[in-house]
Amino acid sequence: MNTYKRNLYLEKGNGSYVYDINGKKYLDLIGGIATCSVGHSNPEIVKVINEQSNKLITASNLFCSKSQELLAKKLSELSGLNKCFFSNSGTEAVEAAIKLVRKHSNKKIIAMKNSFHGRTFGSLSATWNPKFKNNFEPLLPGFVHVDFNNIKALKKEIDNKTAAVIIEPIQGEAGIIIPSEGYLKEVESLCKKNNVLLIIDEIQTGNGRTGKYFYYQHENVKPDIVTLAKGLANGFPIGVTISDLDFEPGDHGSTFGGNDFCCNVALKTIDIIEELLPGVEEKGDYFTSKLSEIKSSKIKEIRGKGLMIAVEFFEEVEPIVKKCLENGLLINKVQKKVIRFLPSLTISIEEIDTGIEILKGAIKDD
Ligand SMILES: Cc1ncc(COP(=O)(O)O)c(C=O)c1O
Repeated sequence: MNTYKRNLYLEKGNGSYVYDINGKKYLDLIGGIATCSVGHSNPEIVKVINEQSNKLITASNLFCSKSQELLAKKLSELSGLNKCFFSNSGTEAVEAAIKLVRKHSNKKIIAMKNSFHGRTFGSLSATWNPKFKNNFEPLLPGFVHVDFNNIKALKKEIDNKTAAVIIEPIQGEAGIIIPSEGYLKEVESLCKKNNVLLIIDEIQTGNGRTGKYFYYQHENVKPDIVTLAKGLANGFPIGVTISDLDFEPGDHGSTFGGNDFCCNVALKTIDIIEELLPGVEEKGDYFTSKLSEIKSSKIKEIRGKGLMIAVEFFEEVEPIVKKCLENGLLINKVQKKVIRFLPSLTISIEEIDTGIEILKGAIKDD
């Protein structure tokens, strides 16, 4: 169906590079929109894929799975929360979070203006942008939106009729909007004070993207529910909702969710991410410092945390993105005037330099 505007056919990848059907090579700074966390065709991942596909893909959730239990244990250790529900995408991870809240309370859920949580009805109701929602009403009732990075706005809305707050610690789709330091901690304490559940959507910020496995670890925050997807299995579809809260049998489910294949790929992906974690902030700082060296009156702001980086321009970025594509660089226009970079965490300094050179040329030429 007509859901995406696109025309480039890609057919293979290797590390930070992808190739189109004519053999043209591109440096990929989009990373499958943060899904390709440890590089295209990563040999360690390929090995697990080969081994596991020879063993078992799925026998359904009618049966127990050691792989699923191992992954749940690992995610519990990483998150500090005890239970996992596995699904197949980010939006499903958010749906499960909303159902978990509703199971415990039917009071309102506070979301943030400019947020993005997915496209299914529950997640869409938590999402802000009216452009995504207008044609699909009625949505799920019980959601209100307040200004992001404005603790006073949240304070005004949160009350004894509130069940939960859902928040992206950095708003990715809005253009990598980073709140002031301490904001998330203040959100946490407001939730605690009002006996309200805190859902942190780590679908884009998680899996090591910002230099810690979960963004909230930078701010020493403890959420009640965490959602994760994208880079968890290096591009294989998987989502997870992590919490100390629980469902009962029959409350929720997913045929594919937590299948042996994805869980094994995710376990290996996490191993590799953990090895890469110490270098993520350093690489991100190098990337942003190189961006800052670009002398152009077109650039308004550079912002980023780890390898989640954006450049905001004074003008529309479509021509720059097009020029980069012609010159073998994939970058993402996340807003009309904002370019986003979400490269694989395996990206090298040389690859960052290559990307910056192509980008510099495109900014100058357009
Ligand atoms: C923060 C956040 N939540 C949820 C989603 C939805 O994930 P998916 O597209 O896998 O359903 C996204 C996707 O961009 C996201 O960035």
